[in-house]
Amino acid sequence: MSTGAELRRKFLNYFALRDHLILPSASLVPKDDPSLLLTVAGMVPFKPYFQGKVTPPHPRLATAQKCLRTQDLEEVGKTARHNTFFEMLGNFSIGDYFKKETIGWSWEFLTKELGLPPEDLWITVYRDDQEAAEIWHDLMGVPRERIIPLGDDTNFWEAGPVGPCGPCSEILFDLGPAYSCGSPDCGVECECGRYLEVWNLVFTEFNREEDGKLSKLPRRNIDTGMGLERIASVLQGVPNNFETDLIFPLIEEAAIASGISYGADDKSDVALKVIADHARAVSFLIADGVHPSNEGRGYVLRRILRRAVRYGRLLGIRDPFLKRLTDKTIALYQDPYRELKERSGHIQRIVSLEEERFSETLEQGLQILQEQLEKVEVSGEKNLPGGVAFRLYDTFGFPLELTQEILAERGMNVDLDGFRVSMEKQRERARAARVETVPSDSFKVCTAYSGDKTKFTGYGNLSARSQITAIIADGKRKSESDPGGAGTGYIGPDTFLL
Ligand code: GLY
Repeated sequence: MSTGAELRRKFLNYFALRDHLILPSASLVPKDDPSLLLTVAGMVPFKPYFQGKVTPPHPRLATAQKCLRTQDLEEVGKTARHNTFFEMLGNFSIGDYFKKETIGWSWEFLTKELGLPPEDLWITVYRDDQEAAEIWHDLMGVPRERIIPLGDDTNFWEAGPVGPCGPCSEILFDLGPAYSCGSPDCGVECECGRYLEVWNLVFTEFNREEDGKLSKLPRRNIDTGMGLERIASVLQGVPNNFETDLIFPLIEEAAIASGISYGADDKSDVALKVIADHARAVSFLIADGVHPSNEGRGYVLRRILRRAVRYGRLLGIRDPFLKRLTDKTIALYQDPYRELKERSGHIQRIVSLEEERFSETLEQGLQILQEQLEKVEVSGEKNLPGGVAFRLYDTFGFPLELTQEILAERGMNVDLDGFRVSMEKQRERARAARVETVPSDSFKVCTAYSGDKTKFTGYGNLSARSQITAIIADGKRKSESDPGGAGTGYIGPDTFLL
């Protein structure tokens, strides 16, 4: 059996020996890339190299990249493969080698280094890509019947709405008839899970422009991605990503916190998997500088974290528990990802604070939701009024998607138009209030006056003790001012209050 850590090492060593420069994982927060909220694939940090805007440190690169995807958040824990956070192993050619080399290396790595039986591997290619199909057949010896041409849906890969992209070829591992849905049509295109995509080889020749059109990149590139948890599940002979050594210790920790063993029943297993997955994602997001908020990536973090807390409640956990899960994540991953250890105190503070905040309102919010649901059900409606969902969001901290998920469990929906109307009204009220009360960015004024001695401590603490050394109101130094008055900030040596 290969551990996750051994597989990560083996992959990087294999490509280092083939003249690849091994780079550390980039942050989950993409740098200078407004088109993406989070790093969703190994190629994301290399987009400017592919586009010819920046010269890479070496034309051949390989990484184990931290990634986070949320498009199927509701599926996490229910299926064998969906995760929010995952690690992607990838080798990249920036205008250097192309199809023949990457196909050859991926085949050799899987069949020789990892020892997977060639007859269990299936290949897909882009429907027009005769060249890739020939390489698989003529040079690797894959029988033609196991090389399947497919269309844009599965075999044209792009990271987001714009950027480098291209046709791709996937390698799938046949887990065997025990994993099949049993349909006579069950094949590599079937969603049942028997054929597990383990590695995607992208032949990155194009750039998707703002207007949606494809343009040719200056050079032909290679971008590959192999999910570490997936390949670990194959090598470790476990039926899903969660039971690999990369995640299972977190499930065990959640089982201790809840007093419910993994395997007790399907419903509690889903909750244990969700908690394990989400605690891992939360730890890595916070380590990369994301703060819970109601916008952008901060909202992604908040949504994941609060979803984990709710699943903890479903398991009957009443006391704060997430910190022990994030501590476990830090212990498991601190070796390859030193940022976790370095920012462990910060992760602990943010997690505890956010869990505490949400726990204060969760019970009450759930009770209100229950009462409203009963009313809606009695009236024979299927939609919860948008105003109620908005109140849960605004007052009780329920991300909209969490409310939707709870409703979906009962076959109901949120009236989204009503929700948007309530949200817009609230924004208008906030805009009006801002104009009246916060005419200047007081924190910037305070730091300018204090020289960098004033720190904002509100991310980690709700209150702090400090000595007031100056008062700024309306952008000017004053001897007195109303607390909370317009544009007022109090400068202290290590804190900032508004
Ligand atoms: N960049 C290749 C993949 O994510 O599948």
